[in-house]
Amino acid sequence: MTAGDSWPRLTTTQVSSADAVAATAAWDPGAEHGYHGELSAMLISAENLQAKIVDLARAVAADHSLDSPPLLICVLKGAVMFLTDFARALPIPSELEFMAVTSYGSATSSSGVVRILKDLDRDITGRRVIIVEDIIDSGLTLSWLLRNLATRGPAAIDVVALLRKPEAIKVEVDVRYIGFDIPTDFVVGYGLDYSERYRDLPFVGLLGEHIYR
Ligand code: PRP
Repeated sequence: MTAGDSWPRLTTTQVSSADAVAATAAWDPGAEHGYHGELSAMLISAENLQAKIVDLARAVAADHSLDSPPLLICVLKGAVMFLTDFARALPIPSELEFMAVTSYGSATSSSGVVRILKDLDRDITGRRVIIVEDIIDSGLTLSWLLRNLATRGPAAIDVVALLRKPEAIKVEVDVRYIGFDIPTDFVVGYGLDYSERYRDLPFVGLLGEHIYR
C-alpha cells in the first residue's frame, strides 16, 4: 500500500482545436509576456497545465517501488519547464539528469536519426529512469531514446509526456503517463518553441499562421 493508492487514476485529457480560446481585439494571449499579436489562441492555460502536472506526479509516485529515487531525465530544451514543475510536484524524492539530442530533419519535423549533443553524467544501471518529455509528435525521438537508454541496464524505463499529438505519430511508443492529447496545430509555449521563441510562456498556445507561413 502506498500513499498513492487513494489518488484517482491518471486520465489523459483530450484537447481539440475547439477548446482553443481565440485571441480577440481586446485580448492577446501573449501580450503579458511581450509577444504582441503573435499567438492566435490559448490552448491549455497555465492553471490546467499545473493541475495536470500534479496528477502526473502523483501517478508516477504511486507506481514507484524501488528504494532508490527515480532518475528524471530531461530531454533539452523543450522539456525543461515541465521537468522543473514535475520534480517539484513529485511527492517523493527524485534526482535529475539532462540529455541534449538533435534529430536530423527539417526545422519542423524529425527524421528519427538522432545524435547525442550532451549525454547523461552518470551510470543508470539498476535505476528507475523516467524520461520527462514535453511533447510526443512523430514519436521518433522518444523511440530512439528508449532504445538507447535500454542498452545501459536500467531497472525500468518509464516515460512521462505532458503533450502528445496522436494524429502525428509515426512510430508507436510505450508511454505510461500522458497529460494531454492535442491536435496537430502549431503549438508553442511552456518549453515549446518556434525558432527558439515562446518557450518562456507559462501556457500552451497556438502560433499565428502569419508568424510561420
Ligand atoms: C521536440 C520535443 C521532443 C521532440 C518530439 O524537441 O522536445 O523531444 O521534438 O518530436 P518527435 O516526436 O517528432 O520526435 P526538438 O527536437 O524540437 O528540440 P527542443 O526540445 O530543443 O525544442
